[in-house]
Amino acid sequence: MRITTKINLLTTAWIVGLLVVINIIVFFLFMETMIHMEQNNIFDKADQITKEIEKDQISNDLDKILNNSLVEDSFIRIILPGNRVMTEVTNDKILSQKIKAKYVNTKNIKTRVIAGQKGEVQVLVANVPIRLGNQGVICLQISERLLGLELRREILRVILISSTIFAAVLSLIGGRWLSNLIMKPVFNMISTMDRIEKSGSMVKIDMQKDTKDELYTMVMTFNKMIDRLQGNMEKQKQFVSDASHEFKTPLTVIKSYANLLQRQGFQDEIMARDAVQTIHLETTRIQKMTEAFLDLANLDNSIVLNETDLVALCQSTADQLQSVYKREINLSFSYSPLIVSVDELRIKQVIVILLDNALKYSADKIDCFIEKNDENIIIGIKDYGIGIPQEELGNIFERFYRVDKARNRETGGSGLGLHIAESIVKLHNGKIEITSNEGSGTLARIILPI
Ligand SMILES: Nc1ncnc2c1ncn2[C@@H]1O[C@H](COP(=O)(O)OP(=O)(O)OP(=O)(O)O)[C@@H](O)[C@H]1O
Ligand SMILES: [Mg+2]
Repeated sequence: MRITTKINLLTTAWIVGLLVVINIIVFFLFMETMIHMEQNNIFDKADQITKEIEKDQISNDLDKILNNSLVEDSFIRIILPGNRVMTEVTNDKILSQKIKAKYVNTKNIKTRVIAGQKGEVQVLVANVPIRLGNQGVICLQISERLLGLELRREILRVILISSTIFAAVLSLIGGRWLSNLIMKPVFNMISTMDRIEKSGSMVKIDMQKDTKDELYTMVMTFNKMIDRLQGNMEKQKQFVSDASHEFKTPLTVIKSYANLLQRQGFQDEIMARDAVQTIHLETTRIQKMTEAFLDLANLDNSIVLNETDLVALCQSTADQLQSVYKREINLSFSYSPLIVSVDELRIKQVIVILLDNALKYSADKIDCFIEKNDENIIIGIKDYGIGIPQEELGNIFERFYRVDKARNRETGGSGLGLHIAESIVKLHNGKIEITSNEGSGTLARIILPI
């Protein structure tokens, strides 16, 4: 079932239910009030007759007094003890037959239902005792059919039922219009999604007015998501094209040297050794690049935090690189151990990337330090090498970006190191800051919030 139909039916059912309850309450209150008014009327009439009888005592004019108060479809009787009817005036023989004379000496009024020609009718029966000095107590009985009331009840019933039906129809029509209006952005979204699914191209939902409601927020969120997907798709395309481009150069070099070897064989030993060396170098480059790609692909995975001593981690990493590259790496720190919750392997990878840069782009010693303040832990790596020009500092975190391609060809970089390092540190809510002076060295700082 469509959601609009569901909303429509539910609201209509709710409105009808509410109206039915309200109408029932109105109906019964109305009937109660009407009967109460009729009862008061009869008692007023009884009081009037009582006064006249008390004035005259029982005289010959009794029937006249009673007849004066007789209304349509009613009777008035005087009853003596022993249920004896002293006198009765009536214009409704059937009513007077159905309601038996009964002597009571307390004032009361009752509603009764009697069978009439056209079904059942409500009647009122009032008994009022009258004290007549030495003649004792007589009972005045008045009974009336509530015909006017029956009619009013029927009219009220018709009005209430028809107004409920009218409200239900209005609610159905209005509800349909309203739910269509409210659901319009949702329908838009469905058709846009459908278009995206069929054509495979990213389309945003057109929302002219800022309605400041949840649907507007939903559409805006959807559009933001599309923007993001579009951005990601473009980044992916760019990555594939950049990556293929990066592979192309070493592959071309390898192929041309392989061709050379194929053509000339190993007669020229120096040339052959040179070719094999270059092929080996370029293959290593491709291998490193592939590893970097794998790292990049894994960056989206969430990090696994564990308690790590950063001082020990920096020390062991520096020691490893020192023994491999035979270069001086000094580490200084003022706190030890320095236990923090980080992804140990990934932070080690960041330190390796920064140390690798320092090693590649300098020839002197390298100074590392670990500092701590109220908010952050800072791992610094300082080299005294070629440095980075000021205007390039903003670009070095971009994928495949290398300051000097020719220079980097010798050092064998792919331009992915800093991008990977920055992404890892961002996953830890931290950042990497690099300051540099061309010709005198570079300082890279990993800043991790505590
Ligand atoms: N310590 C440094 N001294 C001088 N230049 C640097 C230093 N660190 C980075 N750079 C410059 O920034 C560029 C980007 O560095 P990045 O680490 O991302 O790539 P890479 O070192 O070229 O290759 P990869 O690290 O992927 O092997 C480098 O190519 C280099 O030009
Ligand atoms: Mg690097």
